[in-house]
Amino acid sequence: MKMLITGGAGFIGSHLAEFYCDKKYEIFILDDLSTGHRSNVEFIDDKHFIKSCITNKSLVEDLIKKEQFDIVIHLAAVVSVVESINNPIRSQKINIDGTLNLLETNRRHNENLKRFIFASSAAVYGNTKSLPKKTDSFIDPESPYAIEKYTGEQYTKIYNNLYKLPTTSLRFFNVYGPRQDPNSPYSGVLSIMKSKFANNETFTFYGDGKQTRDFVYVKDLVQAVSVVINNEESSGEIFNLGTGKQISLINMFEKFEILYKRTIDKKFTTVRSGDIKESYAQIEALKNLGYSPKYSIEEGLEEYINYVGS
Ligand SMILES: NC(=O)c1ccc[n+]([C@@H]2O[C@H](COP(=O)([O-])OP(=O)(O)OC[C@H]3O[C@@H](n4cnc5c(N)ncnc54)[C@H](O)[C@@H]3O)[C@@H](O)[C@H]2O)c1
Repeated sequence: MKMLITGGAGFIGSHLAEFYCDKKYEIFILDDLSTGHRSNVEFIDDKHFIKSCITNKSLVEDLIKKEQFDIVIHLAAVVSVVESINNPIRSQKINIDGTLNLLETNRRHNENLKRFIFASSAAVYGNTKSLPKKTDSFIDPESPYAIEKYTGEQYTKIYNNLYKLPTTSLRFFNVYGPRQDPNSPYSGVLSIMKSKFANNETFTFYGDGKQTRDFVYVKDLVQAVSVVINNEESSGEIFNLGTGKQISLINMFEKFEILYKRTIDKKFTTVRSGDIKESYAQIEALKNLGYSPKYSIEEGLEEYINYVGS
């Protein structure tokens, strides 16, 4: 089986690449290394690693025409909400035009396609109050990033309705695990918390720390993607991908204290605008396909903290 992973040198993509390499899939990665790292996927040789932007039409067309991928997992994106607020024209070009380019090129040139998976985000729900978040709930995108993810998933869906492309979107909640980059203040909060504990530095809570999130360990995400790949009924659908449980940031901090057997300083500052108070996913639809999150918060954090590698 041939698989294309766009954004495969990033945090999530590198785990999917590792999993499917072990399964002896032939993996190609298309990544411009804007936030990813070549070192995340050293097991992919240079022949299978294409350093380019997903908006490069001729390159994407040549690649898809030639390789006739069975599966495309589309993760490449401007991932920073703040960057999308600062430069919405650039982020829409990559997050919308880039996605459309991949869909259209597959429609025109890849009759072999069996599954196209689009990485959407819980950000599409914005600050809507209802809990848990359901895929048929009211949505309220609050950033260009969220609008672009919503547009991407709607295009993905319409390509199934109109052209019968076997597409599925997954709204990722808060994914955490090894290789998540802690170096931006807008990175996944657990990667920052981990880095502060490891370096004995002060952790800053925005607000009172009681805001909740649905933290899903990256290996459970990989399991969910494989469930989608193996189920034809996933075509044309949009699923939440989380654990179905919420936990507050203060509680997460206490879990880190237990695992590190020590504490670090913490401070509290004003809530960031647009920061949502509570969030967790309703995951029944994905469970009905066979997804069953295996990692409790404790197990996920322990594996993450003990991970040795780049
Ligand atoms: N990590 C999370 O909690 C989370 C939550 C919701 C959605 N997502 C989505 O999941 C996907 C993967 O996120 P991640 O956390 O692994 O982030 P990441 O930054 O580690 O990975 C993104 C990858 O895409 C590449 N990329 C960016 N723009 C590109 C372009 N124009 N052309 C080619 N490659 C490009 C980057 O170099 C990087 O390797 C993204 O689409 C993101 O929006 C992630």
